[in-house]
Amino acid sequence: MKVLITGGAGFIGQRTALLLLEQGHQVSILDNLSPVVHGQPPSLPAGIEVIQGDVRKREDWSRALKDREVVMHLADHHDYLPSYSKMLEVNAVGTALLLELLAEGNTAVRRLVLGSTVAVYGEGRYRCPQDGDVYPLPRRPQALERGIWDPPCPKCGGAITPMITDESGTLRPTSAYGLSKLAQEDLTRMVAERHAVDWVILRYAAVQGGTQPFQNAYVGALRIFALRLALGRPPQMLEDGNQLRDFVHVGDVARANVAAAEQLPVGIYNVAGGKAQTVLDLARTLMRVAERDLVPETPGCYRSGDPRHVIPDISRIKAAGWEPQMGLESMAREYWQWLQRQGDLEAYFEGADHLMQRTGTVRFIR
Ligand SMILES: NC(=O)c1ccc[n+]([C@@H]2O[C@H](COP(=O)([O-])OP(=O)(O)OC[C@H]3O[C@@H](n4cnc5c(N)ncnc54)[C@H](O)[C@@H]3O)[C@@H](O)[C@H]2O)c1
Ligand SMILES: [Zn+2]
Repeated sequence: MKVLITGGAGFIGQRTALLLLEQGHQVSILDNLSPVVHGQPPSLPAGIEVIQGDVRKREDWSRALKDREVVMHLADHHDYLPSYSKMLEVNAVGTALLLELLAEGNTAVRRLVLGSTVAVYGEGRYRCPQDGDVYPLPRRPQALERGIWDPPCPKCGGAITPMITDESGTLRPTSAYGLSKLAQEDLTRMVAERHAVDWVILRYAAVQGGTQPFQNAYVGALRIFALRLALGRPPQMLEDGNQLRDFVHVGDVARANVAAAEQLPVGIYNVAGGKAQTVLDLARTLMRVAERDLVPETPGCYRSGDPRHVIPDISRIKAAGWEPQMGLESMAREYWQWLQRQGDLEAYFEGADHLMQRTGTVRFIR
């Protein structure tokens, strides 16, 4: 197949491009090689045609779509800073432009794969002893400021228990990023169906792996914990560290992407490790791997827009033949070993993380 990967120079895109090549497909990528993500231009393997362009530009899409049969749309803008308009421009409007071109019918595209996120669920499903299954609202700043981390039942206000969330779960993003990805999803489904293009939406959990660019503060817990450990500082928890998260390895995600490009039935699939762990567990696992015996700190801070728990159900994609292969410990080891080979860690640490505090994205309880 002739496959176009947008954002193909990125963390997930590169890995997917390599796997598609190995499977004998023809791969091209459309990527603006954004300096925030890449620092320096990435070195991509031979055999991949690189089209430097922007998903916000119609003419760049036109160029990139020429003779492509499958589009895997991974390009996106994501960060924790209040860049709402850019997030919507790149993610929502960028996708709308692609869909406009598909709707005009002058392309050979017959399948569209969208890299989405479990952030579209927001808090996801919880169980209330009185009300049964409920989907909490985004947590209120007034509660977070007082260090009340668990969301209340949206019906009775009582205590609730987090449950695993499948693809039919109510979608209630807690961040502008989640909202922009939901817009991508809805548009994709609507337009692709109308124009008889097969579509597959993959909702990834937190994706981990060596090679993950740590210039980008967005990439999350493993990065920041590993950076701190490498600089001799203990990992620092947001909230109380008991948030449940699910981590999936980038190699596993690449296999899911290839399956989606080749044969997964039309539909939406969660792609996750299938094993929820607390953020504190992640820190402890990494400390074990790194042989650093430190006590994780809980300074009482939180990040606006984070859900309390994220526990995706992966039964659907498992039934379609995909299974995660890499566990948390191996992911932590791989990341730690990769980090050892990088220079100038102090600069990255200071730059990206202080920016989050300056812009009020990370706040402390009162
Ligand atoms: N990494 C994760 O944990 C994770 C989790 C859930 C969902 N996702 C989704 O997976 C996809 C890929 O994520 P990733 O982790 O590989 O991110 P990444 O930042 O490594 O890659 C994104 C790529 O998009 C490119 N890009 C950014 N803006 C662009 C624009 N305007 N035009 C063209 N290209 C542009 C960047 O240069 C980069 O190469 C994204 O859609 C993201 O929402 C990622
Ligand atoms: Zn209730």
